[in-house]
Amino acid sequence: MTNETLGDGSPGTGARTGWTREQASRIERTEDTVAPIVYPPETDQIPEVHIWDTWFLRERDGTLASVDGYRVCFSLTAPSDLLPGKRHDVATIRCFYSDDGRTWHDAGPVFEGALGQRQWAGSALYDDDGSAYLFYTAAGEEGSEDLTYTQRIVGASGGRIDTAGGFELSGPWTHHELLTPDGERYEREDQSRGMIYTFRDPWFFEDPGTGETWLLFEANTPVPEGSDACGGDAALQAFNGSVGVARSPTGDPLEWELADPLLDAVCVNQELERPHVVYRDGLYYLFVSSHLHTFAPGLEGFDALYGFVAEDLRGEYVPLNDSGLVATNPENAPFQSYSWMAFPHGEEVLVQSFFNYYDFAGETLDEIAHLSGAEQMRRFGGTLGPTLRLDVAGTRTRILGALGHWHIPLAGEELPPTDRELIRRGKA
Ligand code: FRU
Repeated sequence: MTNETLGDGSPGTGARTGWTREQASRIERTEDTVAPIVYPPETDQIPEVHIWDTWFLRERDGTLASVDGYRVCFSLTAPSDLLPGKRHDVATIRCFYSDDGRTWHDAGPVFEGALGQRQWAGSALYDDDGSAYLFYTAAGEEGSEDLTYTQRIVGASGGRIDTAGGFELSGPWTHHELLTPDGERYEREDQSRGMIYTFRDPWFFEDPGTGETWLLFEANTPVPEGSDACGGDAALQAFNGSVGVARSPTGDPLEWELADPLLDAVCVNQELERPHVVYRDGLYYLFVSSHLHTFAPGLEGFDALYGFVAEDLRGEYVPLNDSGLVATNPENAPFQSYSWMAFPHGEEVLVQSFFNYYDFAGETLDEIAHLSGAEQMRRFGGTLGPTLRLDVAGTRTRILGALGHWHIPLAGEELPPTDRELIRRGKA
């Protein structure tokens, strides 16, 4: 597999692959990439909090863990009476569990005394010895009176799950600061030239092909003033998202060394959020979420799941479906879902996301900031959305349909026929 367009617009910053403007200019909604419309769930399973970025407890090999029959997930949460736009300022990680993959229960906030003023997204490892690690982003400096936006990658060790009398996740947790940006491969806050910099969303990955242990994260590539990146266009240079990676030489989940980014999007997009990999048929499918408003001038993207495929984790990534677009929201509900996370299930790849803003009809997120609190609340989902079903083969993907809100099938669970399948059978 070769990437013929590699180098077009790529500033040569150290990432092996760049998502180019030429590739991103091909982004368009198609039948295969637009998710079905989401309707609010009949009941809110966890009414006490709003939920957004969510990740599952996984084993070293990436399988979703099943702990004595329980699926376990972690979400960023905020009190449900808080205005949606304020939620990032108070985010707290909670744990949820389910014994049927449909009905979820609140196991409460995971930590007391985590690092940062608030915690942003991450990942969770259920290690071979039954201990749990939580990787997260410490946002802001603990102890600072003002809300700050510094981001550090933290690993919490010491988690234990006890199912003798129900489900319980407990510590004591020890919080280890694992990574901060080096200013060379990864932009520091004081180097940022555009929107807020990113250094967050750690995601644990043990490479089934090589056995090597990696931590992926969202970052930015430093582009100094006067650089000739993007043909010297300073406005474009401010858009410099990357997928960062660190390697653990020993496999120890608390010991990491920064390596060159897997991919960057200089001149294309500022935020490649929550990077993660699905390994399938010997190929590495790298997925990120990104926003309409983080594309550089001259490009039109969507709030969507984007993806790339390579033959090695550190190989040359080719955008899926020519442009990188894998799953987006319908045109008449462009912000209905966000923060997608793909995982394999049998022949399919499933994608979970949260139900975000709906009832949008042609507005932008900035425009709703002026609405009354009640109106903003009315438009906000704040719960897990329906799970998307994807067919993934080579460099193409196709949305097959969706499961219900919060439906995360148990291991080996057979999925119902998709709508496409039913239509096909009806015609046969
Ligand atoms: C994506 C995201 C993550 C971050 C979190 C903060 O929805 O921007 O990158 O960890 O939200 O709330």
